[in-house]
Amino acid sequence: MNELAKGLNQRLEGSIAYSMLSDFGKRIYVPRGIVVQGNEAKARAKRFNATIGVALEDGQPMYFGSMKKQFNENMSASEIFGYAPMGGVLALREAWKVEMLEKNPDLEGVKISLPVVCSGLTNGLSIVFSILLDEGDSVVLPDMYWENYDLLIDEQRKAKKVLYPMFKDGGFNVEGLDKTLSSLKADKAVVMLNFPNNPSGYTPTVDEADAIAAVLKKHADSGKKLAVITDDAYFGLFYEDSIYKQSVFAKVANLSENILAVKCDAATKENMAWGFRVGFITYAFKGASEDQLSVLVEKTLGTIRGSISSCSMAGQSVLLRSLRDSEYKADKQHGFDRMHVRYVALREALVKHNNKTCLKALPFNSGYFMSLETKCNAEDLRQLLLEKYETGIIRMTDHIVRLAFCSVPADAIQELVDTVYKAAEELC
Ligand SMILES: Cc1ncc(COP(=O)(O)O)c(C=O)c1O
Repeated sequence: MNELAKGLNQRLEGSIAYSMLSDFGKRIYVPRGIVVQGNEAKARAKRFNATIGVALEDGQPMYFGSMKKQFNENMSASEIFGYAPMGGVLALREAWKVEMLEKNPDLEGVKISLPVVCSGLTNGLSIVFSILLDEGDSVVLPDMYWENYDLLIDEQRKAKKVLYPMFKDGGFNVEGLDKTLSSLKADKAVVMLNFPNNPSGYTPTVDEADAIAAVLKKHADSGKKLAVITDDAYFGLFYEDSIYKQSVFAKVANLSENILAVKCDAATKENMAWGFRVGFITYAFKGASEDQLSVLVEKTLGTIRGSISSCSMAGQSVLLRSLRDSEYKADKQHGFDRMHVRYVALREALVKHNNKTCLKALPFNSGYFMSLETKCNAEDLRQLLLEKYETGIIRMTDHIVRLAFCSVPADAIQELVDTVYKAAEELC
């Protein structure tokens, strides 16, 4: 059991509340990671706050004009206050699918389900894990992963994460994925792929994406049954030409009769609507019939019905109106451009620190974040930055810290990077 959960339980012991806790109730806790460190930074990081996974401008969330302008009297009462239909507003599901096919041309001719609306991407992952994971099942993923997977996989489902090192020779560790799949005794496994990755900000190159697909196919051909879940939270924020600029879902959707492909994505970051809580789940597998895909959709609807019952109607209505708006494409481009400028500034800011050994940038080419490997203790570095430099970063592991460049203006990034290196040099 997690130490934090143990601490919470001790405080309840002897009370009726403790006696009534389920096994899950005993195991659950709030991680001391990103959210808690982010709150600390909010209070103390007066100079730079590079903890938050939200695109900020002048301290406020960025947004699409095509969404903001919908907040007016033209929205009908049923678009705002009514229950959303099961599975989500049909026109929105269809529009999201059309856009998915545009953004992922490799899906041309591939049969995929109609996306189901869920309440943000976390909820989407939770639903999919409920449907696919039994206690003790293996979920294969790189060792750089979004911390919430701990709650979703370990605590909620009592499944086990099987990790491999994210990087090898400066690129994605395809060999690590291959070896890990080979090492599994069971004949089925879930493979999680999150690109652009949180916390590293890395997306595979075209060649690496091909190699990932080849490894998955090899294991599927040899009889392993795989569910490949893509967490596409930061989809579209690809800053280098070498990147495979589609979801890995497009690579695996029609790859093998032994691979179930599941795409989890959301308006959260793709459309800069963090608080809307609108996400989507889409299924595909080679040889799937319409009926089989609709069964997967129905299982998903049942899981939603038995948990949150229904998703936000207002969020779906505004998103749908925005997707149909003439300014939508320009909004999307603008959002990308603002993040791209910060990425370029970050790359330039790192150049002068290239030869430093106390802090080494890990590969990154996309998304909201980048990670650095530190020789000193990462928590000591975070604390020094907060105390002496009023600067907030996230400690990921004992020797890895994460910088969120999405929330720092481009003209402040050089100073932020210099400050982080200065603090690391003081500690090393
Ligand atoms: C990799 C990854 N997946 C999922 C999410 C959660 O997205 P949502 O806010 O839509 O639940 C995040 C958010 O930080 C993330 O980084």
